[in-house]
Amino acid sequence: MLPNKLQDKIDARVKDNSLRSLDVRQDLIDFSSNDYLGFSRSKKIYDAASATLKKLQHQVNGATGSRLLTANHPLYHVTEKQIARFHNSPSALIFNSGYDANIGFFSSVPQRGDVILYDRLCHASIRDGITMSHAKGHKFAHNNLQALEALLKAHKQTSKTGAEIYVVTEAVFSMDGDIPPLNAIATLCKKHKAFLIVDQAHATGVVGPKGKGLIQELAIEDLIFARIVTFGKALGCHGAAILASGELKNYLVNFARSFIYTTALPAHALATIGAAYTELENNSDVIKKLQNNITLLQGCIVKEQLTPYFIPSTTAIHSCVIKGNKATKDISVLLQQNKFDVKAILSPTVPKGQERLRICLHSYNTKEDITTLVRLLKEFLTP
Ligand SMILES: Cc1ncc(COP(=O)(O)O)c(C=O)c1O
Repeated sequence: MLPNKLQDKIDARVKDNSLRSLDVRQDLIDFSSNDYLGFSRSKKIYDAASATLKKLQHQVNGATGSRLLTANHPLYHVTEKQIARFHNSPSALIFNSGYDANIGFFSSVPQRGDVILYDRLCHASIRDGITMSHAKGHKFAHNNLQALEALLKAHKQTSKTGAEIYVVTEAVFSMDGDIPPLNAIATLCKKHKAFLIVDQAHATGVVGPKGKGLIQELAIEDLIFARIVTFGKALGCHGAAILASGELKNYLVNFARSFIYTTALPAHALATIGAAYTELENNSDVIKKLQNNITLLQGCIVKEQLTPYFIPSTTAIHSCVIKGNKATKDISVLLQQNKFDVKAILSPTVPKGQERLRICLHSYNTKEDITTLVRLLKEFLTP
């Protein structure tokens, strides 16, 4: 028995066709996981991580505490140095997940009286962090430079002396798969003396020939206050890091509560992150394969005349907007019955009217799988 108010919320979800449930993973053709490069099942990465641990004679299952107390294993230092070097950043600070990194950053860095301007499609972890902050958040229209500049001007004029402006966006949007005009956003932030934060969760391992992400592709590292990279997606493991100056790292170690008050990742997680980064450094072929598959999918969409359904994307995420929870779910089930795992993304995860099938591409999807998937989509969308 749930309290009435909770039961009412569940009933509303059922009525709305948006009740979430935990389904057992089936062995279908993967067009839904974030394992863009197949690293989660790479024997090479697994073996390399095991070898690192063996060399350290490390036979410990858990981390034993938080990093500030008992768990700051020497591998933290090594792995953070490796990540910072790869991403051309002065330093890196590992968090247990991207969710933790975002809530830790946004709840501790912007202060009372400051403002946070965020793209309205920013991930829930960014928005939750903003909700936890004492600063006030204001959203701007998706990828809209004019809307951002209007807010920057308005808050500059109204802010008290000493109030800071933070701007946050994503390098690849998690639901739409599109890329913001980051050069222009960074220039605007510089002009208005705002601090820019970029979440690179879906760009790491995907954007650029070595998967270094959008910021390094544009060579604008110096214009970014902090970057969030996550390891649960293209890197195929778990965890995240905030890339920033040494001073900001030191601040986060002292004030980011999701960093301080939690058991740290264990050494085997760090060894895996390190091995995944080494693979990224050495294996550009796998990224090329993913990029070829992206081009192939784009071609199939045009060929099957499905362009009006798709949000334009050059990344691993391609959203086919169906509209309506039931209609979207129905097509997702039809695809699953044909062995294609494509997830329905329903409202309230996306706004009403924007319900979609979210196709995630991987280096290991075959040409035949991609062409068949788009052909089936055409059949189900235009029966
Ligand atoms: C843009 C973005 N940021 C952060 C996260 C959270 O990362 P993690 O899964 O490591 O908690 C996600 C996960 O979906 C994401 O899409």
